[in-house]
Order: sequence, then C-alpha cells, then structure tokens
Amino acid sequence: MEPVVALVVAAGSGSRLGGDIPKALRELDGRPLVSHSLEGLAAGGVDRAVIVIAPGLDDDFAGVVAGSPIPARCVHGGAERQDSVLNGLAAIAADPDLAAARYVLVHDAARALVPADVVRRVIEALIGGAVAAIPVLPVVDTIREVTATGSATVDRSRLRAVQTPQGFSRDVLELAHQLVADQDLQVTDDAAAVEALGYPVVLVPGDREALKVTEPLDLLFAEAIVRSHA
Ligand code: C5P
Repeated sequence: MEPVVALVVAAGSGSRLGGDIPKALRELDGRPLVSHSLEGLAAGGVDRAVIVIAPGLDDDFAGVVAGSPIPARCVHGGAERQDSVLNGLAAIAADPDLAAARYVLVHDAARALVPADVVRRVIEALIGGAVAAIPVLPVVDTIREVTATGSATVDRSRLRAVQTPQGFSRDVLELAHQLVADQDLQVTDDAAAVEALGYPVVLVPGDREALKVTEPLDLLFAEAIVRSHA
C-alpha cells in the first residue's frame, strides 16, 4: 500500500507564545511540541513525515528527526503558512520514497497532543473516498460578528471550529495550492484551498485535546492534559 504522509508545518515564528526558540521546539513534558505531534500522527496510522521548518534551523530540528517514531525529514517553509505547505508538497513530489503517496495529512506542529483516534478518523475518511477530510468541533462560545454598524449574534449551532490534521488526496491538494499561489488567494487552512477548487470537504469529529498551542495559557492546558494521561 502507498504510504500515508504527513506534512507537519512548523515554520511559523510563534510570536504569540513568546520565548526565544521556535514554537515547534518549545518543550512540553520535556520534549518539543513537534515531537509530540509526530507521535500522535504515527499512532494514528501515518507512515512518513515531512516537517516544514524555517530556513536555517536544520541543526535545531536534527534531534526531532532522529527521535521521530516514523521516518521524517525537514524542508524549508515560506513567508505564509500556505507557502510552507506548497514547499512541503513539492518536496514530497520530488522524493522517490514519497511520490507514490496517494494521501497527505497536513498538520500544525502546534497541535501537539492530537489523539491517535482523530488521525485515524481522517485517514479512514480518505480511504472511504473523501477527497478532503478535516476534524472539527462544535463551537462552545456564543459568537458575535462585528459589522460596520455594530455587532450581531451568529447562530453557533451551524458553526464548527477546525483542527488538524487535515487529510487530502495529494493530487487535489497540489492543484489547490497551485491555484492559491497563482491567484494570490489568502487561506488560513488547506480545506479552504481545496474548497476554492470546488471540492467538497468531509467533516469528522475532532478532539479538544488537539488544541493549537498559540498563547502561554495553551501551554498550561497542554501540560495539564499530559499530566492527566500519566
Ligand atoms: O500562525 P498559525 O497559528 O496559523 O500557524 C499554524 C501553523 O502553521 C504552525 O504550526 C506554524 O508553524 C505553521 N506555519 C508555517 N509557515 C509559516 C507560518 C506558519 O509552517 N510561514
């Protein structure tokens, strides 16, 4: 069977978290966030990983690659997240060991504690025929939309918060990101890119433990989750 490849995007600066090392290398329970991500992906059925990092940080990520539970390599990202994904997809296409992969899962390194079950659900949806499958959660907060004249409540029962890993047919994701680059579109996730190409996106249940470590408080939550598993 073709390998299931994960593209782990880790090229952001993580300025909202603070600190002087890249966010993906910030430690949680004594290991970098990205190492936790690789473990969750591997446990959920991913066979290989490409980690997209900021240029110049190869030495800093060498330990992560060496300690990865699945074969992993680093490639360099770009200015925006979508540039990083495009670079990662190009590296997969150019790698003889990876070019046979039919599916690719794009995962934010910062969603360090993604449970294996979430990863599994995404892969199963792809095997079942979905072109795009993403984990989502109901929105627990009441949301207001700010308008030109004031603000208005949004019906939250129709909203979902989107997580990663997001799974795709690799050929469709390549086309989608090419379209985004050619038309200079701005997208905050990969499902939006595939949607711009006109493909449907299948939703699978996410998990609150797959929270994105963005601000210092998120790291505290993540530490509490790790302790609760001990
Ligand atoms: O900024 P944001 O929280 O949306 O970033 C989500 C993920 O995308 C992070 O894991 C970050 O490292 C990654 N990213 C990237 N290249 C960029 C910007 C963000 O790989 N240029």
